[in-house]
This record gives sequence, structure tokens and C-alpha cells, in this order.
Amino acid sequence: MTELNAIVDTAKAAFSEAATPADLENAKAQFLGKSGRITELMKGMAALSVEEKKSLGAAINLAKQAIEAALSDRRQALAEIELLAQLQAEALDVSLPGRQRGQGGLHPVTLTTERIEAIFGSMGFDVAQGPEIEADWFNFTALNTPEDHPARSMHDTFYVEGGSDAAPNLLRTHTSPVQIRHALQHVKQHKAAMDAGLPMPEIRVICPGRTYRVDSDATHSPMFHQCEGLWIGENVSFKDLKFVFTDLCRTFFERDDLVLRFRPSFFPFTEPSAEIDIQFQNGPLAGRWLEVAGSGQVHPNVVRNMGLDPEKYIGFAFGMGLDRFTMLRYGVNDLRLFFDGDVRFLSQFQ
Ligand code: DAH
Repeated sequence: MTELNAIVDTAKAAFSEAATPADLENAKAQFLGKSGRITELMKGMAALSVEEKKSLGAAINLAKQAIEAALSDRRQALAEIELLAQLQAEALDVSLPGRQRGQGGLHPVTLTTERIEAIFGSMGFDVAQGPEIEADWFNFTALNTPEDHPARSMHDTFYVEGGSDAAPNLLRTHTSPVQIRHALQHVKQHKAAMDAGLPMPEIRVICPGRTYRVDSDATHSPMFHQCEGLWIGENVSFKDLKFVFTDLCRTFFERDDLVLRFRPSFFPFTEPSAEIDIQFQNGPLAGRWLEVAGSGQVHPNVVRNMGLDPEKYIGFAFGMGLDRFTMLRYGVNDLRLFFDGDVRFLSQFQ
């Protein structure tokens, strides 16, 4: 009997030492397997008397049951340990923040464009678009800049396929061709009414967009942004240009003290022409004049190319640099920053 008790104790110890189910099955074999210790004892009973078989058999059975119970306890314990380990390995930390998509924002030049569209919108201006690959006629000729005109050399640009050999298509050098495109469409739209003697509704439009020149330094980029403005009617004068542009700049820069200067200049498509400078009265830019646009009274030849009688219709136009306006508003000193796509720079405008 003491031998049986010793076997049971050894089995219990072996089971509790087994660290994995495989270890446990090996330990089980030592006691309950074909040549395990309990099995061997039972085999040995064959030689015993009936009486001895009865009492020893009962004792061996008890020992066997005790070993089986210890085995099943350990099996359960190991299964629980395994489950716990698995749960831990696959644990989801529900307190972690979910994966987020980075939120983008509008480019500073787009912010400026939208702001300018809103300000002009409040003054009754439409917004028009034109193609970036432009025909020579719209970019130059219709704007009173014939083929041999020296002003063309200031607009060195990228020529592309299409058009004629003498006048290939090009990446537009300014947004001014949209003046012509928009005016022609406007006149066509209102032709029937005008033929019937009704006055033409005024043309009041801005045309923002990308423009191209062969130019590259801190304040020039081969691709840049302009916004054209055009107001044509029967009685639109230079005074209206001064009012509209002054109002635009004061609203855009949120400075009532902003002073504008219209400096005489030359553009083939306007007569007279002026460059517009702004002067800041206060702050870090106080006293400085900064050129922000070209402008003028639309030349009679251009009015004619719009399909209108220059004796009857008159107006003004301007072309402003959107990148310039953006640099001034945010105090950016290098234009190239706008086009590098560096998130550290761009995220500051969100
Ligand atoms: N297109 C001119 C340029 O890019 C700017 C300009 C000047 C536009 C006078 C105008 C204007 O509409 O009237 O340099």
C-alpha cells in the first residue's frame, strides 16, 4: 500500500511539473501507459490468490483513479494556461485611438483665390475659366500685341504642338486671354437682345488661373497664378477701377489704412495703363510700396476684338498676381515654398 501511495505521489509531482500538454502525456505514459507502473502492478496480480487479487485490485483501482483525477486536473490547468496566453497574445487594446486618415487642407494660393472670388463675388463679378494651352491669337494678337510687337519678348513661354507654324499654341503667359474668350461668349449670348436694340448687360468677370513663363527665382516661378479682372459697360471709367481695386485690397488685407498708387505704365491691351502698388501704413511693411497688379482702360482694338463697338463700350481690366497676394498676406518671402509640397510649410495654413 505504501508503494501505491508513493506511486500516486510521484505521478502527482510529475504531472504538476509538466509544463505543456505533450509533457503531460509523456508523464501519463509512465504510470498508466502499456508498461506504466500501475499497468505493471496489475499484470503482476495474475500470480496472486483470489483473496489477494480482491484487496490489491481494489487498492490499485483507487490509486489509478487518484492518478487519473490528478491527470485530468492538470490537463484542465494547462488548457487554461494556454487559453490565457492566447488571449493575452491576441488582446485588443480598445483604449487605443483608431487609425486616422490625415486631414488635408487647402493650399494657401487656393485660399487666396477663394477669398478673392468671394470679395469680387460680393461686387457682382462672375468667375470664368480659360484653357492653359492657348492659341497665339487669344494670348497675344487679340490683346493688341501683333506678331512683331516687342512686348511679346517679355512673355517668353513654353510653346507646344498645335496651332500654325507661324503661331504655335503656347502655355498662356497671362490670364488676359480669358478676357477675350469670356467677352466673345457674353456678346454671343446676348446678341439677339442687342440686335433688338436692348443694351448689353455689363461684362463683370474675374478669371483666376495658372500662367507660365520661362522664369525661376525666389519671386518668379515657371508656373504661377494670376487673376484677371474685366468690367465693360457703356459708362465704366478709370475711377471705377480705382474704387474696385482699392476696395478689394483693403478687404483682402483687412487694412483700412492701405494706400494704393496707380503708377503710369504700358501694356498693349490698355490705354492708359497703370501698375498698381500698395503701401502699408503700419506694421513690419510700413512705408513700403509693393507692386501687385497691372491695369488700365481696355484698348479700343481689344474692345473690337471682343465683338463690341469701342465707340459705345468702354471699361477697365487688370491682372493681379495671386502668389504675390498670398506672400504678402502670410508674410512668405520665397515663392518656391508654395510649390515644394512640404507638409511642414503647408500645414501652417490649416
Ligand atoms: N497681363 C499682364 C501681365 O501679365 C497684366 C495686366 C496688365 C492685365 C494690364 C490686364 C491689364 O488686364 O489691363 O503682365
